[in-house]
Amino acid sequence: MKSLPTRLAAGLLAVGSTAQFVPAPTDLIDKEGYAGIHVRYKEVPAGICELDPNVKSYSGYADVAPDQHIFWWFFEARNQDPTDAPLTIWINGGPGSSSMIGLFQELGPCGVGPDLKPFDNPYSWSNASNMLFIDEPTTVGLSYSIPIPGYQDDSGYIIQLPDDSSCPDYAAGYGTCGTYSKPDLTLTANTTEGAAPNMWRTLQGFMGAFPQYARSGVSFATESYGGHYAPVFNAYFLEMNRMGKGHHIDLENVLIGNGWFDPLVQYQAYYNFSVYPGNTYDYDPYNDTVKAEWYNNLYGAGNCVDMTKQCYATGRNDVCSRADNFCYEKVEYLYDKYSGRDEYDMRELTPDPFPYSYFEQYLNLPEVQRAVGAYQNYSSSSSTTSSAFGNTGDDDRESGTIEACRTLLRAGVQVMLYYGDADYNCNWLGGQVVADEIAAPGYASAGFVNITTSDAIVHGQVKQAGLFSFLRIYESGHEVPFYQPLASLEIFERALAQTDIATGKKSVRQHRGYKTVGTPTSTYREGNGTVQMDVLPGNATYNTMLNAPDPEPTWPASASEERRGSVKKRSLGKLGRPRRSRGGKRPA
Ligand SMILES: *[C@@H]1O[C@H](CO)[C@@H](O)[C@H](O)[C@H]1NC(C)=O
Ligand SMILES: *[C@@H]1O[C@H](CO)[C@@H](O)[C@H](O)[C@H]1NC(C)=O
Ligand SMILES: *[C@@H]1O[C@H](CO)[C@@H](O)[C@H](O)[C@H]1NC(C)=O
Ligand SMILES: *[C@@H]1O[C@H](CO)[C@@H](O)[C@H](O)[C@H]1NC(C)=O
Ligand SMILES: *[C@@H]1O[C@H](CO)[C@@H](O)[C@H](O)[C@H]1NC(C)=O
Ligand SMILES: *[C@@H]1O[C@H](CO)[C@@H](O)[C@H](O)[C@H]1NC(C)=O
Ligand SMILES: *[C@@H]1O[C@H](CO)[C@@H](O)[C@H](O)[C@H]1NC(C)=O
Ligand SMILES: *[C@@H]1O[C@H](CO)[C@@H](O)[C@H](O)[C@H]1NC(C)=O
Repeated sequence: MKSLPTRLAAGLLAVGSTAQFVPAPTDLIDKEGYAGIHVRYKEVPAGICELDPNVKSYSGYADVAPDQHIFWWFFEARNQDPTDAPLTIWINGGPGSSSMIGLFQELGPCGVGPDLKPFDNPYSWSNASNMLFIDEPTTVGLSYSIPIPGYQDDSGYIIQLPDDSSCPDYAAGYGTCGTYSKPDLTLTANTTEGAAPNMWRTLQGFMGAFPQYARSGVSFATESYGGHYAPVFNAYFLEMNRMGKGHHIDLENVLIGNGWFDPLVQYQAYYNFSVYPGNTYDYDPYNDTVKAEWYNNLYGAGNCVDMTKQCYATGRNDVCSRADNFCYEKVEYLYDKYSGRDEYDMRELTPDPFPYSYFEQYLNLPEVQRAVGAYQNYSSSSSTTSSAFGNTGDDDRESGTIEACRTLLRAGVQVMLYYGDADYNCNWLGGQVVADEIAAPGYASAGFVNITTSDAIVHGQVKQAGLFSFLRIYESGHEVPFYQPLASLEIFERALAQTDIATGKKSVRQHRGYKTVGTPTSTYREGNGTVQMDVLPGNATYNTMLNAPDPEPTWPASASEERRGSVKKRSLGKLGRPRRSRGGKRPA
């Protein structure tokens, strides 16, 4: 079984000093947002992530409930007047995964290399939109409940220390002493539905404090467990709008990458993806004994499928939780056990150095903590939130996600599902069945067509009917914008403009009857040319042209190396079970 990341081990532990704890931020500005939600924030100095001093960035908290403080980090849109730009909210999944994963590994303005300095991301989604990254629910990432001195054990659990005078010897060995949220399961959410109200409150707080950044429509983008979060949260926002509660959220688009929606379908997809002709990388190393074991653990009497059906039928926490644990250990985990590959990218063996995790150490540097107003040490995954959700078996529930997607479409909100096809964890074969289940008008008779992009390389295919689309992205793991940055940004721009995803040339907003005419299935096969047969060195870099590691590590120039004069002016005018999750990289 996997455990939570414990590689946070940053710096040497100065036993007998308080240096390893995070002092309370003292320089936050207070503001009252909409719906009475109190917001505290600061302007983040240029160079902390966005390197262009003309593009502003703010971070802070929405105080959504007693002892529940939700961290957010906002970046103005580049290359345009941010007060005319749309607003896009990004969250990661988990449950318990921090949205700093998306920010630093995927689609934010910067990444972080081994020198622990940010480097520019030219394919940042902030090139097209204002971006708001939110750590939720409480205890995730930099969102805190009650800050306590503590440390994380090997499974990622938070253990409280008697006081913050020192890191005692018994804790020092873990290398994780710091300030953490009290691991109180009642101070986070334990279901998808239960997490929606505090997300709404966070948005009310932010939009009230910064109304200038939410004038041109709102989009919600996510991945992984976001297949649970996004449909349910956004249907909740529409319901609050309908009831006239708070400020009206002008929702236009919901984008979900490698989403986890319907476990009954998606647990079966683990088998389909693993057994030929399943994945499109022609990788089928399992012998008949292993395949039979996999099949039986799924379909045998009383096994994963039966247990999940029982969860659906009874809705009981104990039944769902038991089913989920069984399905994880006996179905999902067989891949880890027999292939030794990364669940989030079958092309790499574990440990997989992609996407890069140096940002976790960066966010634990005192100067960065001060710059963003942090009040706890950063972890990419919250064991408190993952335990709380584990106790209700939310992962094994469909949680109304399919019907919520239909609700969004009926309300005229675009829904786009995109899947990197090398991801096993939330694989595209399951996603494809989910897309069929949603049964958007016209979708059944649409077909797959190539997606064209400015680099003239075919990065994937799309099947679209009106405002609903399903995308398969080639040569991409779970975190698509990391592996296919150019295609991701151009697809994002098309989604914002509500043009057809395949070409970006036809308005779907005006022509709701638009439909792709193509093949009934997406048949392209990459073959095994990019499947790595050796474990990669920890400092390896990923080459998006080769779709494979660089022969020698090649890091982009970081902030410190860039000449000051080269900064361009912005032109205005245009475990519970912490071991597992559907999150960023590493069970994150
Ligand atoms: C937690 O933050 C403190 C204060 O900056 C730092 O000294 C310490 O190394 C951090 N702990 C971890 C585990 O990163
Ligand atoms: C994104 O914006 C930056 C800053 O203006 C620019 O340098 C970069 O080329 C843009 N990226 C793309 C893909 O156009
Ligand atoms: C798995 O494969 C079977 C047989 O081809 C198919 O009927 C089923 O729909 C597939 N399910 C998923 C989730 O891929
Ligand atoms: C099948 O593969 C498993 C796992 O690698 C191995 O333990 C087992 O001996 C193999 N069985 C046969 C019959 O080759
Ligand atoms: C989940 O949270 C709700 C609301 O806080 C609580 O009433 C319930 O007991 C929790 N469920 C479990 C299984 O912990
Ligand atoms: C779609 O892209 C593939 C390469 O992935 C290419 O071989 C094929 O000709 C393209 N199809 C069309 C209709 O352009
Ligand atoms: C790669 O694919 C080729 C052709 O399909 C096959 O002959 C070869 O055995 C595969 N290699 C591995 C390591 O799977
Ligand atoms: C990368 O790490 C390897 C050891 O795994 C080391 O030999 C090599 O010098 C490192 N390369 C760079 C560019 O840091």
